[in-house]
Amino acid sequence: MRILITGVAGFIGSNLADRLLQEGHEVVGLDNLTYGLKENIPEDVNFYQIDIRDRSIYSIFEGVDAVFHLAAKNCIADCQDDPVETADINVHGTVNVFEAARKLKVKKIIYAESSAIYEGSKLYPTPESEIKPESFYATSKLSSMYFAEAYRKFYKLKFTALRYFCVYGPVQDYRRTIPPVMSAFIIKLLMDEHAIIYGTGKKRRDFVYVDDINDFHLLCLNDERTDNRVFNLGSGVNYSINEIYKLVSELLGIHNPPIYKPELSGEAEETLADIHEAESLGWRPKTAIRTGIMRSIDYIKSEMAKGHI
Ligand SMILES: NC(=O)c1ccc[n+]([C@@H]2O[C@H](COP(=O)([O-])OP(=O)(O)OC[C@H]3O[C@@H](n4cnc5c(N)ncnc54)[C@H](O)[C@@H]3O)[C@@H](O)[C@H]2O)c1
Repeated sequence: MRILITGVAGFIGSNLADRLLQEGHEVVGLDNLTYGLKENIPEDVNFYQIDIRDRSIYSIFEGVDAVFHLAAKNCIADCQDDPVETADINVHGTVNVFEAARKLKVKKIIYAESSAIYEGSKLYPTPESEIKPESFYATSKLSSMYFAEAYRKFYKLKFTALRYFCVYGPVQDYRRTIPPVMSAFIIKLLMDEHAIIYGTGKKRRDFVYVDDINDFHLLCLNDERTDNRVFNLGSGVNYSINEIYKLVSELLGIHNPPIYKPELSGEAEETLADIHEAESLGWRPKTAIRTGIMRSIDYIKSEMAKGHI
């Protein structure tokens, strides 16, 4: 198949591009490189540096069988600081991608929502029906769902919506001001420094390894039962941030205590996925947390060896 990935220079997009190429698909990718890096993109991807809000993206959709729409402004704290840009990229940009897919007759769109949509819920594990967004990021992601629904209804586009929980693994972005916990902890400890935990560290998160997510991505291409449905993609188990810190610390054999700083705005108390929907199609998250953290450590070490960190 000829598959287009938006946000191909990012963490999930670049891992997905690798996997699709391994499976023998042709991969076209676009990204404006605001967060992602060109060096993340596998060589065989036909890459376009362009913004998803640009109407000239339409020609890139020519002959494409399926689109994975992953490009987004996605750091909750950044989105809280700039709701206008959040809406511009995550709502306007997403609708422009859906419109391109409609105009160029793409057969299927698989797009990223987020577990943030459940941030106002106290039901754990959280099923797909429990929609309670609070932050600007979550609200923008939920808007995608309503636009997808309208495109499905009026233009018969086929969608699969994916609500990722905390995806982690190699190529996770560690360069942003507040990097995701896994890479932030690994880097600080490897540098023999003290990592920062925002809040008490008692918030719990459902972490899922990127290869497991890619297994489900492949299912979306090959299994019609994924059409016009939404799926939680987590591991169904959660850990507190303090527990993750301890695990990373143990696996590295470096025990510098963390520094606690005030909580960040917009962050949910707990995330825990109810993954029955995805499991009912035969999918299982297979990677044990220690294995996933070890692979993330190996990636960060290799980045350090290249002088990138
Ligand atoms: N990683 C997670 O744990 C997680 C959890 C929930 C949801 N998601 C969603 O999954 C998707 C991928 O996440 P990720 O972790 O790979 O993020 P990422 O930031 O690593 O990748 C996103 C990519 O989108 C690009 N981008 C941003 N704005 C753009 C624009 N206007 N035009 C073109 N490209 C643009 C960035 O440059 C970046 O390369 C996002 O939609 C995100 O909201 C991720």
